[in-house]
Parts: sequence; C-alpha cells; structure tokens
Amino acid sequence: VPRPSWTIRPKGERDSGAIVALLAEVAREGHYIATEWPFDLDARERALRDAVLARTVLGWVATDGNAVVADLTVFEPDRDEPLLGMVVARTHRGRGIGRALIERACEWALQNAKLALVLRVFPDNDAARGLYRATGFDEIGVEPQSIPRRDGTKRDAIVMRKALRAPAAEAAGA
Ligand SMILES: CC(C)(COP(=O)(O)OP(=O)(O)OC[C@H]1O[C@@H](n2cnc3c(N)ncnc32)[C@H](O)[C@@H]1OP(=O)(O)O)[C@@H](O)C(=O)NCCC(=O)NCCS
Repeated sequence: VPRPSWTIRPKGERDSGAIVALLAEVAREGHYIATEWPFDLDARERALRDAVLARTVLGWVATDGNAVVADLTVFEPDRDEPLLGMVVARTHRGRGIGRALIERACEWALQNAKLALVLRVFPDNDAARGLYRATGFDEIGVEPQSIPRRDGTKRDAIVMRKALRAPAAEAAGA
C-alpha cells in the first residue's frame, strides 16, 4: 500500500490565497457549498487572512506537494459548539482526506473541551452526509429554504452535530 502523498497541517495566514482559490474551484462546481461563484477573490483572501490573524477562524489544510488540496475551517472557535466548513479538491476526493480533517478537528475540540461540533449540509450532498455520519455526526434538524441562491431559489440545509462531552455528566462529577 503506497503512503498517501498528502499531509495535514494547521493553516496560517499565508495559506489564504491558496484556500480561497480552492474554495473558488469548488464553488464553480455549483452544487456542494453555500458560496457561489463568482465572488471577489482578493476581498475574500483579505477577509480570510484577517480572520486567521484575529483567530475568529482556525483550521487545517491538506497539502500535496506545494498545493493546498483541502481545507477545514472552524468558525468562531471560542464558542461551545463551533461550526465547521470544509472542501476537498475534486482531484483528491475519496482518498481519506476529508475523514482525516474531521478527525483532526474532533481532536482539537476534545482538547479544548468543546461541547459539540456542528455543520450544515445540502440534502443532496451524499458524499458529505456520508462522511459526517461515518465520523459520528447526527442529523439534528432541517432548516427549510434557509440558503438563498443568486438565482432567487432557496435551498434546505440539514444541521448535523457531533456531541463530544455530556454537560450533565460533567456537572455530576462523572
Ligand atoms: C464531502 C467531502 C468533504 C468528502 O471528502 P473526501 O476526502 O472525499 O472523503 P473521504 O475520502 O475522507 O471519505 C470518508 C467517508 O466519507 C464517505 N464518503 C466519501 N465520499 C462519498 C461518496 N461519494 N458517497 C458516499 N459517501 C462518501 C464515506 O463514508 C467515506 O468513508 P469510506 O471511504 O470508508 O467509505 C468532499 O467530497 C468534498 O469536498 N466535496 C465538495 C465540497 C463539499 O461538499 N464540502 C462539504 C460541504 S457541507
């Protein structure tokens, strides 16, 4: 079995351009994420760099050689139940990168005593729902017509949550 050619590391402000380029690639596919193409690449890159520096987001990238091929973002990491978002480059799907990124995020969440991780996914995104189910997320609700699209339509979002720590048990000293 060959060793994987990719590795995971924390993302830094210097990754912002590559991450936004990857986000644009996936947005252009048109199905999977709330971000729609076109968007202002430079503005998005600046916003991401600022957010990383301000620590209002954190996360990890997967790299293959010099290329950033996947990104997982934890939004508002100070919250008890931070929100996740992720993209894997089309060329690199189905190789375990998504699973490895989620596992890394869960490790971080446990180390930082988070109650849970949450995320939103489109109902027809079978790969993402499969990944999240396989890594311990439960579907806890649907937000009907909550994601407006530029064409005037609205899409449902499924909310998924992975509980990491039972507050009741902790209060009881368990
Ligand atoms: C969803 C996504 C992140 C999955 O990442 P990935 O690296 O391809 O997934 P992995 O190879 O780590 O697969 C892990 C598990 O996810 C599930 N999975 C992955 N691809 C799947 C598919 N096409 N259909 C069903 N389940 C799938 C499987 O349970 C898989 O485990 P297995 O390999 O043991 O069967 C990736 O496809 C992606 O970036 N898609 C476009 C953007 C997107 O949808 N982002 C998430 C928005 S909520």
